[in-house]
Amino acid sequence: MNISLKNKLYENYVPLINDVSNAVPLVISDNEDYLSDLLSKAEITYIRSLEFFRSKINTVFLSDEEGKLKLIIIKPSQKIRFLIGDRIANLPSGSYKIISELTSEVAFELTLGFCLSSYKFESFLNKKEVFDVKLCNPKNVNIDKVKAFARAEFFTRNLINTPASHLGPNKLEEVVKCFSEERGANFRTIVGDELLSQNFPMIHAVGRAGTEPPRLVELEWGRPGGYKVTLVGKGVCFDTGGLNIKPGSSMGTMKKDMGGAASVLGLADCIISLNLNVSLKVLIPIVENSISALSFRPGDVLLSRSGMSVEVNNTDAEGRLILADTLSYSNEDNPDLLICMATLTGAARVALGPDIAPFYTNDEDFSKTLIESSLSTYDPVWRLPFHSEYEDMIEPSIADLDNAPKSGMAGSITAALFLKRFVKKSVNFVHLDVFAWSINTKPGRPIGGLMQGVRALCTTLEKLLSKDEAL
Ligand code: BES
Ligand code: ZN
Ligand code: ZN
Repeated sequence: MNISLKNKLYENYVPLINDVSNAVPLVISDNEDYLSDLLSKAEITYIRSLEFFRSKINTVFLSDEEGKLKLIIIKPSQKIRFLIGDRIANLPSGSYKIISELTSEVAFELTLGFCLSSYKFESFLNKKEVFDVKLCNPKNVNIDKVKAFARAEFFTRNLINTPASHLGPNKLEEVVKCFSEERGANFRTIVGDELLSQNFPMIHAVGRAGTEPPRLVELEWGRPGGYKVTLVGKGVCFDTGGLNIKPGSSMGTMKKDMGGAASVLGLADCIISLNLNVSLKVLIPIVENSISALSFRPGDVLLSRSGMSVEVNNTDAEGRLILADTLSYSNEDNPDLLICMATLTGAARVALGPDIAPFYTNDEDFSKTLIESSLSTYDPVWRLPFHSEYEDMIEPSIADLDNAPKSGMAGSITAALFLKRFVKKSVNFVHLDVFAWSINTKPGRPIGGLMQGVRALCTTLEKLLSKDEAL
């Protein structure tokens, strides 16, 4: 399979169209008075006979005297994210146009939900289903933003869903290179033993057992002199756990352990699509956490790029090791904002479940704006603290740091504290411990890879930049 970035990942894939005259009208309402005014007596009687206003029926098709589809009525929903969009995506093939009035919030959620529901991962299927439902751009919606979010999400999901057999370190590097070329960004890579000569010892130690060499890839885009944003994403193409091997039940989904890398690429894609006024850098340490005679071992002490030593108490806590060297490097040109995204701990899921990504920051304003943006973009995140009293949990006896606290308590927080040790105090640091996976099929989120936190972060960044300009 060729993961070409020129295939349906992009524009053509977003099923939104400009107005067409033969689009079937859609009404989103279950307001009896409104519908009584809109419909004929016979029609409203028919709808009442279906018990539309009381039962679970959520979609009604009305035809004209010749039997031609004339109007579709869909029930709105406040409770379930992306439900209306999903209902539209499940209509028969054709073009549709919403004719009822919607608030801009509902219109945005519906349009985004519709786009996200159109997604199917079909790279390995010989029999592909054709998704042929199109929606005319509703009024009141920033279509460029919906499109930017949708194409970034498809890109991210495709990367996560593609298994390690087809997306190992070589291929993931190629994807970043190809993405850089298409988006007019500069690309650089440090591969294999060069990681040692350029002082990235922990990326090398974690990745050296893989058949494809470990590496650090770097992408640069934007305006020199602009607000300096650096994104760091965990790129573990497969996490066996290393010599502390994972049980089969936990290893099953570990192709997604490059979900942080896929997410920061999604965020970079949004930033570029929306042409934000930033000087952007993306750094992705790419490895496979494999088992061989070359594997790093429990009890090993690794010297990091920063000079701090780390005792490996569990080879399954590999993400923080490769991120640590990458974060040290990212500090070196003093970014204004440093964002790290990683499928870092199972503990994050125990705390907040699969839907909500915890984030860490010491910046109160950033946190407030991120939560607001999370609500307005239907992208749930929640803050957890860098609780300094837990610092001693990551300090063992024979090295400066321990990669896997023995108590097993506060696993997501101690992992975040570990990362923070490698970030300069003067740098504004945000870390998201993402799950990057939908455990079952929900509206707009089929089972499999999922982009989390990116819409919230992108919107926060837009708000920060507009504040900056206003000053
Ligand atoms: N990639 C995993 C974390 C993970 C597991 C994310 C399941 C999402 C779902 C990570 O490398 C890991 O295994 N972390 C360990 C750390 C522990 C050994 C300190 C964990 O969370 O159990
Ligand atoms: Zn692991
Ligand atoms: Zn991992």
